[in-house]
Amino acid sequence: MNFYRNRDTIKIGLLLMAAAISAISLWYTRKLVDTLASREKKLIDLTAKSYKVIGSADNSDNQSFLFLEIIETNNSIPVILTDDRGSIISSRNIRLSDKLSQKQRDAILERELVEMKEQYPAIKIEIPGLTQYVYYRNSDLLTQLKYYPYIQLSVIAFFGILAYLAFSQSRRAEQNRVWVGMAKETAHQLGTPISGLMAWVELLKTDERLAGEEFVGEIEKDVQKLQMIANRFSHIGSVPQLKEEDLTPIVSDLLDYMARRIPTKIKLSLAAPAEPVCAQVNRALFEWVLDNLVRNAVDAIPGGQGSINVEISLRPDGQAQIDLTDSGKGIPKGMHKRIFDPGYTTKKRGWGLGLTLSRRIMENYHKGRLYVKRSEPGAGTTFRILV
Ligand SMILES: Nc1ncnc2c1ncn2[C@@H]1O[C@H](COP(=O)(O)OP(=O)(O)O)[C@@H](O)[C@H]1O
Ligand SMILES: [Mg+2]
Repeated sequence: MNFYRNRDTIKIGLLLMAAAISAISLWYTRKLVDTLASREKKLIDLTAKSYKVIGSADNSDNQSFLFLEIIETNNSIPVILTDDRGSIISSRNIRLSDKLSQKQRDAILERELVEMKEQYPAIKIEIPGLTQYVYYRNSDLLTQLKYYPYIQLSVIAFFGILAYLAFSQSRRAEQNRVWVGMAKETAHQLGTPISGLMAWVELLKTDERLAGEEFVGEIEKDVQKLQMIANRFSHIGSVPQLKEEDLTPIVSDLLDYMARRIPTKIKLSLAAPAEPVCAQVNRALFEWVLDNLVRNAVDAIPGGQGSINVEISLRPDGQAQIDLTDSGKGIPKGMHKRIFDPGYTTKKRGWGLGLTLSRRIMENYHKGRLYVKRSEPGAGTTFRILV
């Protein structure tokens, strides 16, 4: 399953690409903003010079219309002209509605002036006997351009996240249908031959020629086991019934059952409080989870020699807690989440579905949790179930 191993790389790659695109787009608009700002500055310098010429007493010829025109060329950059005491003489490109009273207009201009003083230093105009100041700020176009890429990128990011969520949601729904469908189908398919087998076993048991033969009992046990497996699948396919159960006997029965089926050099042990630890569980499914975890633990123990310890306890918040610790090869730190992905396996003949299924059973059907509590390569692993 190469895709699983590469998934983080792909995600990081996509994120880096998005970051690079954003950076380029921000840098480019920054450049546009700078160019536009320096143009606006030039126009304001011209405006200031024009005011100076117009204000000069000796300028009585007809050239002043030319400078007025220069001032009027600027129809986007807000400008205020004040005298040396800061009183406003005139303004340009500041929207003042006709409906406003003089007082309201003055208030607006004063507010604009404060804002302009924050943005750029004033340009001083010195005419003999008269000092004036030109104040200005960025045109609306420049301001918009400054913030535009941020708005654009947020909108893109918003839709990107929305699309991602919708996509993963629909993928999950599809997975659900596959799980449930497969489970139902399996239970259904197993049903007929199992009931057939059961009838045959009954027949064998009554046959006098086979009286006292051990194998008939063994066949019966295996058929019962098959029945149990089919039962598990049928529970996955439907809404499982939960029942208040004491977990200790369930775990201890399962460990007894497993003990006879794993290498004898692996020691199974159980630690549980004397009083019952109860939780709402579906026994068939819960056993399946334990079965999976114990089997994985056995697989992880090198050379078939080691220990598996199960510890049941009641948490202060009333939840039942089951810690399953093995002395196996452990799981590398970065893989603690990944092992729950469908198809993730490190075994030659593994399907990589055991933990996915177990987690689904605990989280979807029991509203509980299943996760790696602790694991160190070479030192063993603890899986924790909360229910
Ligand atoms: N107790 C454990 N110790 C070490 N590794 C484990 C343990 N349990 C699971 N794993 C790792 O998680 C992988 C996935 O487990 P699982 O979903 O049960 O699939 P499978 O058993 O088919 O490989 C295993 O292949 C193994 O690498
Ligand atoms: Mg497994």
